[in-house]
Amino acid sequence: MLEIGCGTGLNFRYILEYLDPAAGQLTGLDFSADMLKRARKRVVARGWSNVELVQGDATALELDRQFDAVFFGYSLTMIPDWMAALRRAQAHLRPGGTLVVLDFGRFHGWGPLAPLWRGWLRVNHVETLRPYADELRRLFDRCAVRYWLGGYNFTAVGHKGP
Ligand SMILES: C[S@@+](CC[C@H](N)C(=O)[O-])C[C@H]1O[C@@H](n2cnc3c(N)ncnc32)[C@H](O)[C@@H]1O
Repeated sequence: MLEIGCGTGLNFRYILEYLDPAAGQLTGLDFSADMLKRARKRVVARGWSNVELVQGDATALELDRQFDAVFFGYSLTMIPDWMAALRRAQAHLRPGGTLVVLDFGRFHGWGPLAPLWRGWLRVNHVETLRPYADELRRLFDRCAVRYWLGGYNFTAVGHKGP
């Protein structure tokens, strides 16, 4: 399993609950050395021997292996060339593998607060108005996209065909 834009590794413990501790490997990728330093501290403190951390750019990802699952957690909307990141993620999925995205939505149910949220996020390098769902549906054979809390966030689950 690969988490792209893993940051400090906040999601690792939730992911590890679903991995076989003996056989399941988790790779956390981020381009920030500072984030990875903090993630490494967490990994060492928890004694997670099946977690590997890799510094790299999601948009130019070239790992020498494929994964059963790839996860973007609040990272896709921060990546300017997000289409390249999705293409590289898809290339790193084994046939039959699953891509999961959790990220901010467009706040469609938030009325006049919606542009304020989107503007605030944009100041923080998060772009919510790109056509993420369309591109995910185009890239993956089956892709279910769901919006939560009036578009506060969305989940997308895509499957790579055999
Ligand atoms: C908002 S944080 C999310 C961290 C983590 N996934 C979480 O949910 O706690 C987004 C992360 O994406 C990373 N990131 C942004 N662009 C990236 C890129 N092109 N390649 C790899 N990581 C990237 C940032 O360094 C940051 O750590």
